[in-house]
Amino acid sequence: MNPKDAKSWQARMSKAAHALTVSFVESISFDRRLWRHDIAGSLAHAEMLASVGLLTRKELRRIRAGFASIERDIESGTFRFDPAQEDIHMVLEAALIERIGEPGKKLHTARSRNDQIALDLRLYIRDAIDREILPGLRNLEKALIAMAEGETETVMPAYTHMQRAQPISLAAYLLAYVEQFDRDRQRFLDARKRVDVCPLGAGAVAGTTLPIDRRAVARMLGFAAVAGNSIDASSDRDFCVEFASCCALAMTHLTRLAEDWILYATQEFGFLRIDDAFCTGSSMMPQKRNPDLLELIRGKTGRAVGALNGLLTLLKGLPLAYNRDLQEDKIHVFAAHDTLTACLEVAAAIAGNSRFDRRRLEAATRYGFLDATGLAEYLVGKGLPFRQAHQVVGRLVAECERTGRELADLPIQTLQAACDRIRPDVYRYLGARNVLARYRSEGSAGPASVRRQIAAWRKRLGR
Ligand code: ARG
Repeated sequence: MNPKDAKSWQARMSKAAHALTVSFVESISFDRRLWRHDIAGSLAHAEMLASVGLLTRKELRRIRAGFASIERDIESGTFRFDPAQEDIHMVLEAALIERIGEPGKKLHTARSRNDQIALDLRLYIRDAIDREILPGLRNLEKALIAMAEGETETVMPAYTHMQRAQPISLAAYLLAYVEQFDRDRQRFLDARKRVDVCPLGAGAVAGTTLPIDRRAVARMLGFAAVAGNSIDASSDRDFCVEFASCCALAMTHLTRLAEDWILYATQEFGFLRIDDAFCTGSSMMPQKRNPDLLELIRGKTGRAVGALNGLLTLLKGLPLAYNRDLQEDKIHVFAAHDTLTACLEVAAAIAGNSRFDRRRLEAATRYGFLDATGLAEYLVGKGLPFRQAHQVVGRLVAECERTGRELADLPIQTLQAACDRIRPDVYRYLGARNVLARYRSEGSAGPASVRRQIAAWRKRLGR
């Protein structure tokens, strides 16, 4: 075997690893994307080793220079992620030793790949949350708020059980999604607190007999805290589960929006027109304009939900502490991260490039008795107990259905025959627009409430 291909742990073995062993245990094919975080962790570790006297200043300088040259090569695409080395940690360490010799061999002092990978993953997830997911969610929220701003007076049917329910402002409907995505943002911020804990110094499982300074490393890497127990720190992946869980729930919210909009873009509904640039055609049917992007958001959710399940299954029954099973964690974390990041961007783009058809929306409020609840509440205003009011209106709706009319079409005599408390002012309560204008409870779906909601979001999120 070429000594360059030798594993760092080779000395203990009587022979070289079988080709199957090499190919089966490697993770460099997928963990190479952790290179930046692995180098950042190594630099902080080296800095600390020098400060406690385990490295000389000169050795530290050589290590820094070595990583700088590795970084340059990775960025320019000339670096070879040697598949003979198992994982990103070994690849980078081997490259460092190759470039700077002896000082490189000291870098792994008081460190194990077990605490190293736990560190890399935490750094990776923290960045993913800060740089992509939080901005992505905020961006989508803003796109929906911008849409809502122009639609406060647009009336549409709200559905429950997919049956016409009550009239709402289109803006209220859009802001319902903003609420969901904002909760997702809060959830990521909360999960981030438990990501933001430094495991380095836990070593393989028990810590080290060497005089390291864990707090210094944590400070250099911007961590809020140092993990309290080396056994837990080297084997804890709760932060991955939480991250995947946040991703899966955000994806679930995206599927609800996708499903709504796929439906709204059908000829049957005709509520929504997605810009041509965000539709796809058919290879066979010339007329098609398909909402494939939304369908893919719905479909890709399987990856994020799968990632969450994958991680939970990975941890279930896993004995303390580090076990190689954990290497698989990255597959799931990356899948959840990639899926959510891409889908957030696409959803925001679609929101920015779709138009609701106000006439179709309003037309859909003309039929289906969206004002029935409003009429019952009118009767409550006239002193009738709600249960009775509900029955009066129920009978009127049944009568309308028999004769093909809407409540507002009924003559005053018919209405008064159903309930003598009804006065001619009732016609100012009937019809979707009248109902919409009368919503007054906090958070209700009428224009006044919606304008307050938009102002509150603008204050929180800015323009
Ligand atoms: N590639 C490994 C992982 O992702 C790094 C830790 C390996 N540790 C070990 N003792 N084999 O988990």
